[in-house]
Amino acid sequence: MSTDNKSYQRSFASIYDQVMSAVPYDFWYEYIKLLLEFHGIGLPERTLELGCGTGNMMVRFLGDGIQVDGLDGSQDMLDEAEKKVKNFEIEPDFYHRDFLEIPRNKQYQLVYSVFDSLNYLLELEKLEKVFADVYEILDKSGVFIFDLNTEERLAGMKPGTTTFQEDDFLCYWQDIVDSEEAIWTVRLLIQKRNDNGYYEETHVEKGYNPYRIVESLEKAGFGSVFFYKANYLTEGRPSDNRVYFLACPEEVLEPGLIEKLYYKLKLFYLRKVLV
Ligand SMILES: C[S@@+](CC[C@H](N)C(=O)[O-])C[C@H]1O[C@@H](n2cnc3c(N)ncnc32)[C@H](O)[C@@H]1O
Repeated sequence: MSTDNKSYQRSFASIYDQVMSAVPYDFWYEYIKLLLEFHGIGLPERTLELGCGTGNMMVRFLGDGIQVDGLDGSQDMLDEAEKKVKNFEIEPDFYHRDFLEIPRNKQYQLVYSVFDSLNYLLELEKLEKVFADVYEILDKSGVFIFDLNTEERLAGMKPGTTTFQEDDFLCYWQDIVDSEEAIWTVRLLIQKRNDNGYYEETHVEKGYNPYRIVESLEKAGFGSVFFYKANYLTEGRPSDNRVYFLACPEEVLEPGLIEKLYYKLKLFYLRKVLV
């Protein structure tokens, strides 16, 4: 186990869920399931999350009785995830690893990654290594689903500062943008109550052009690749903020017009009740 990832240390890992309390994980989970259904793919039995963080998405899979393992570069985030999965019958395996060191000891029906985790890879070559490794650990009938912030989104981010405050902490969040390289840096300064010290960490993400990602997925061997505007079932575009990719080793169903309409209505309903 080794990782270069120096963000998501204890001070931020312990407040991550509070800072992200507005994230609609229930809806995101339903969206992943809908993407599968949309393409005629059944629910998986064996799943791996890349960048599982504090396990917010994993617990939803476990709640549905689906085996899910988690990989993350931060042991402090994994510690939080391990606490959360204790009450489930299924025991996930956790891997404290960099994305570039995906274990090859198991095969999965679904590998997924959400909330910009793969944007932390700052070079396309590194993403391409991940795609090739995921291809190897997926069943031939399996599927790889992940989201990415686009190049246009990160290049167009506005620099500035935000403050998150709860009873037990203060977190200053500074956005720094390199528009030319589509690189978004977040500097965090965290102060905990009853603690005189400050903790600092830096997060860096790179945005990608979705068409370039499609080429890379195909180069890795994926036979069917689709991408959608995040949380919708409309074809994605480089101008979308975030896009979801669905890539399968084998050919999968391209939904017809009637199915498209049906699933769009279903998604509309899910958004109404879950967001
Ligand atoms: C924005 S968080 C998302 C966490 C989780 N997926 C969620 O939805 O809450 C990104 C996660 O990716 C992990 N990460 C970032 N770079 C990584 C790398 N190179 N290898 C492994 N994990 C990494 C971080 O430690 C963090 O837990």
